[in-house]
Amino acid sequence: MSAALLMKFITVLAAASLLVASIDAKTWLLPIPQSLKWTGSEIPLDENFDIHAPDNAQAQEAANRYKKLILKEKWVPYQKNVTEITPLKKGGVLKSLQIGIKDLNVTLDFGVDESYNLTIPETGGDATLDANTWIGALRGLETFSQLFVKTDGQLVAHSSVIQDWPTYPHRGIMLDTARNFYEVESILRTIDALAYNKMNVLHWHLTDSQSWPLGLNKHPELAEKGAYSAEQIYSVKDLKKVVSYGQSRGVRVIPEIDMPAHTASIAKSHSDLVTCTDTNWLTNAAEPAPGALDPTNNHTYSLIEDIVEELSEIFPDSFYHAGGDEVSSHCWKQDKKISKYLKKHNMTTNELWSQFEDKVGTIVNNNKKRIMIWEDAIVKAKADLSKDVAVQIWTTIPEKIIRRGHDIIHSSSDYFYLDCGGGGWVQNDTSYVTSNQSATAGVSQNYGGAGGSWCAPYKTWQRIYSFDMTYNITSNPGDGQVLGGEAALWSEQTDDTDLDAKLWPRGSAAAEIFWSGSYDKEGNRRSLDDMWPRINDWRYRLVRRGIAAIALVPQWCLSAGTGCLITQ
Ligand SMILES: *[C@@H]1O[C@H](CO)[C@@H](O)[C@H](O)[C@H]1NC(C)=O
Ligand SMILES: *[C@@H]1O[C@H](CO)[C@@H](O)[C@H](O)[C@H]1NC(C)=O
Ligand SMILES: *[C@@H]1O[C@H](CO)[C@@H](O)[C@H](O)[C@H]1NC(C)=O
Ligand SMILES: *[C@@H]1O[C@H](CO)[C@@H](O)[C@H](O)[C@H]1NC(C)=O
Ligand SMILES: *[C@@H]1O[C@H](CO)[C@@H](O)[C@H](O)[C@H]1NC(C)=O
Ligand SMILES: *[C@@H]1O[C@H](CO)[C@@H](O)[C@H](O)[C@H]1NC(C)=O
Ligand SMILES: *[C@@H]1O[C@H](CO)[C@@H](O)[C@H](O)[C@H]1NC(C)=O
Ligand SMILES: *[C@@H]1O[C@H](CO)[C@@H](O)[C@H](O)[C@H]1NC(C)=O
Repeated sequence: MSAALLMKFITVLAAASLLVASIDAKTWLLPIPQSLKWTGSEIPLDENFDIHAPDNAQAQEAANRYKKLILKEKWVPYQKNVTEITPLKKGGVLKSLQIGIKDLNVTLDFGVDESYNLTIPETGGDATLDANTWIGALRGLETFSQLFVKTDGQLVAHSSVIQDWPTYPHRGIMLDTARNFYEVESILRTIDALAYNKMNVLHWHLTDSQSWPLGLNKHPELAEKGAYSAEQIYSVKDLKKVVSYGQSRGVRVIPEIDMPAHTASIAKSHSDLVTCTDTNWLTNAAEPAPGALDPTNNHTYSLIEDIVEELSEIFPDSFYHAGGDEVSSHCWKQDKKISKYLKKHNMTTNELWSQFEDKVGTIVNNNKKRIMIWEDAIVKAKADLSKDVAVQIWTTIPEKIIRRGHDIIHSSSDYFYLDCGGGGWVQNDTSYVTSNQSATAGVSQNYGGAGGSWCAPYKTWQRIYSFDMTYNITSNPGDGQVLGGEAALWSEQTDDTDLDAKLWPRGSAAAEIFWSGSYDKEGNRRSLDDMWPRINDWRYRLVRRGIAAIALVPQWCLSAGTGCLITQ
């Protein structure tokens, strides 16, 4: 490098670090807004401070909720400033927040406008929050609450001008309540946490092979026989409570009834519709207990129709998730009747699987819902499904699905599976206690190697945050779109005791790339350096808000400046 070039390089570096150093507020927003301008004042709250919302029930309720939260939270950041902070001016008092909403009558659903503009003037007075919908107003209120800190014994807001909108319309957490049961209260708390993180989807994996905790009016026998106990059933009333709680927080609740595999629990009440339940799970299923619906029995579809119909009434969302993962051809083939059917119709098990997904798709569409399924039928069975099917990706590369015209939801198990890294749970699995170096040589020891669960290791927030939502996504005519993403929690080794710990604050790393995108306005990849002070502080704030989010670092690091970074 020439001396001149070197000088130029150093100048650029210096300019860059100046930029980083010139922050003038200590509010750590998460997810980071699309456009944020600090205007340099801290504005004390007027003692009669109020939030005025227009005539919309959800917005008014949220205004009350957030006013209470702000006055109670009085946030003193745990994360100390990491660079020099320009001292803030005092700027009058903050009298009110005035919320304006363009369209007062909007239903929460996929693709609804969530944008908002929020201004806290540097001279105090009235702050303004403008949104097109009440959902946008809720997102803005969340940001507003994060702009308050208690400093020198006084609650102040940091003056700023914010324009914000979600990069992706579908931003969620998938929660499996079948491997282990969760109290309704835990699910409501999860909805609160989703809203704090500006996530808008609770994908509820309601049933699986191990249990059927779903108490339906049309088919009460499914839960009576298939739930772990009479106490571990979600009644229709419970389901409606969750839906309505989600509504009030701007969180859509999408039910998933996994099928045709993952259905052993149905056999407890409908043994004629489920096959291979008495077989070796290693050969016939992804995990114990084995069991898959018999797709050659017409009564199977009558039951599915009843289930989809009742759930469509309970869950107003326009999406319905029909599962569709991990079908075992062995399971179907070992059934004499199914084998005979395959022979008679000259069909492969993959063709049978495709036919099943088509039929379920029709049932879902007949109930005026859009179907969402896991990738498997397309990747494994090569099913040629209606382009309208939204596909949730967990192992494959997205371009494979998008090029077939399907919209996708990112849930790569390599980044977004929050259960990974807990070791095996099959009782006498010794892979966790032996170490076979040659088995893992040349491969990352952590991935599928000795000592871990299939998707080990544990996904750190840094790993999650490093996912590029746009990687190798092109948009040729006819391609599907990226609708967003979900972090997934499979519950083999989780229940009420550690739900929050598995979800938070790691879910917040996902929330930020789903809302803010993997790149900033200038096209720069979002960096861990920008995120770590914010997620460190956010963890404590979540705890204060009643979410048992786990520690990410020794508390020492939060006041150690850059002392916990890797340095040369
Ligand atoms: C911010 O950081 C600077 C430099 O590390 C330090 O001198 C200052 O006291 C810090 N201010 C606060 C409020 O922590
Ligand atoms: C709100 O929208 C719904 C359906 O979109 C409609 O039925 C209702 O009349 C509307 N209400 C008002 C007050 O405009
Ligand atoms: C926010 O402000 C921008 C710029 O003035 C404007 O284009 C946009 O429509 C506003 N958004 C909302 C939700 O009011
Ligand atoms: C199942 O339904 C199909 C199509 O409606 C019909 O052709 C077939 O005969 C039925 N099979 C049985 C066993 O009822
Ligand atoms: C069965 O299907 C295969 C592949 O579709 C086809 O090649 C074969 O001719 C069919 N056999 C009969 C008996 O129809
Ligand atoms: C686990 O137990 C099963 C059933 O007794 C046995 O067949 C298998 O060999 C055991 N596996 C290990 C790794 O010990
Ligand atoms: C270790 O793994 C390799 C590769 O999978 C396998 O060939 C070998 O038999 C294993 N050794 C032991 C002791 O299990
Ligand atoms: C990007 O996607 C194309 C298919 O659209 C594929 O052929 C290629 O391998 C992918 N590239 C990378 C780097 O994954």
